[in-house]
Amino acid sequence: MGFFTELQDHSEVKLSILEKYTIPWMRKIILNRFGPRRCLLIDGFAGKGIYDNGKKGSPLIMIEAAMDFYNQSVQNKWSEPGIFIFLNEWDPENQKSLISNIERLGFETMDNNLFSSSDYKTITIVVENKTFEEFLTDILKGIKSGNSLIPSFCFVDPFGFSSTPFRLFKKYLENENSELLINFIYEHTNRFIRHPNEKIRDQISDHMGLVSLDQLSEKVANLSSIERKQIIIETYTSNILNETEAIYVRHFDIKKNGKTKMILFHVTKNINGLKLMKETMWKHDETGQYVYNDKEQMVQLDFDTILSNDKEAHIKLLSKQIFNNYTGLKNISIEEIEAFTLVESIYPITNFTRPALKILEEKGVINNFKGRSKAKSYPPGTLMDFS
Ligand SMILES: C[S@@+](CC[C@H](N)C(=O)[O-])C[C@H]1O[C@@H](n2cnc3c(N)ncnc32)[C@H](O)[C@@H]1O
Repeated sequence: MGFFTELQDHSEVKLSILEKYTIPWMRKIILNRFGPRRCLLIDGFAGKGIYDNGKKGSPLIMIEAAMDFYNQSVQNKWSEPGIFIFLNEWDPENQKSLISNIERLGFETMDNNLFSSSDYKTITIVVENKTFEEFLTDILKGIKSGNSLIPSFCFVDPFGFSSTPFRLFKKYLENENSELLINFIYEHTNRFIRHPNEKIRDQISDHMGLVSLDQLSEKVANLSSIERKQIIIETYTSNILNETEAIYVRHFDIKKNGKTKMILFHVTKNINGLKLMKETMWKHDETGQYVYNDKEQMVQLDFDTILSNDKEAHIKLLSKQIFNNYTGLKNISIEEIEAFTLVESIYPITNFTRPALKILEEKGVINNFKGRSKAKSYPPGTLMDFS
């Protein structure tokens, strides 16, 4: 069965995260009073656009999100959003299908690889047929020296590890407000880490941003599969944090039949991007582990009840973490506590931080509130003491 015959469940969750993230991301960028009101969506491994079973692939998700956002803007009488969508697909046959799927949405070509629509005047789509490396390098080369790309989000969804060199991400992340969602093909990376072929080992090392793979392969040699995964995730995360300008990295594990197939890494410099992605990922796995397992998902028929019980436990846990972090400190703002939740805990802010504070207030361990008019409310600017 070919990849595009049917969208498999575990790939569907990857695309669902992309779909749930794209519109709120565009809203945040474009409706920002101080921002440029323009944004760029990049899909480096776009595929055909639609699977044979009718499900949408990443480029169509991006285009339809842009169209929805454009319609919302017109309805709300906001100025028309400038949305650029740069797509790339290396296989010529796939690229042909992609183009006809774009045309079906009413976009026409103006100049061989440029598409626009009279109904969506400020959406511009570019479709390239290059390797990912050439594609991204060309985008970055087009930036005038001293300038930056407009705010951009780049989705990277390869089949393996050989075409996503780390140095490209490093260069891309030099741009202001640039974000990545990388589908890290864990299964192959893990399997080939000790491959006898040096070329393959070099590709993995390039992909992970390592000088040499030897150290990592020695480190994971006799470990259990869970420990191996932990080390591989930690290595990739710390390379991103240490070697690029990104500030926040979160990952989401995607399993098929109980085994990790791929890991989505979200990489950003912007705390609002982190906030949005944590909320999006959380919706796809409310157990707090940020894992999707196609097998389990099917048997969890009573998922909602399980979650409503678990959520209370999570909020209690967060309240303990907040208390431990601020014990004895005075005049702590709600904004600081939210930032702590976001960066230091596994939880999203919405529906977690305030209920956790409520528990602490009921216990009497936070007090002396300033800047609020009623008990157990924490409007922006509220200050509190921790005993
Ligand atoms: C996992 S699929 C992408 C699926 C797509 N994102 C979706 O949601 O439907 C990977 C795609 O990358 C293409 N591809 C393979 N090697 C490539 C390379 N070096 N550069 C760009 N595209 C490549 C393949 O032809 C394939 O269509």
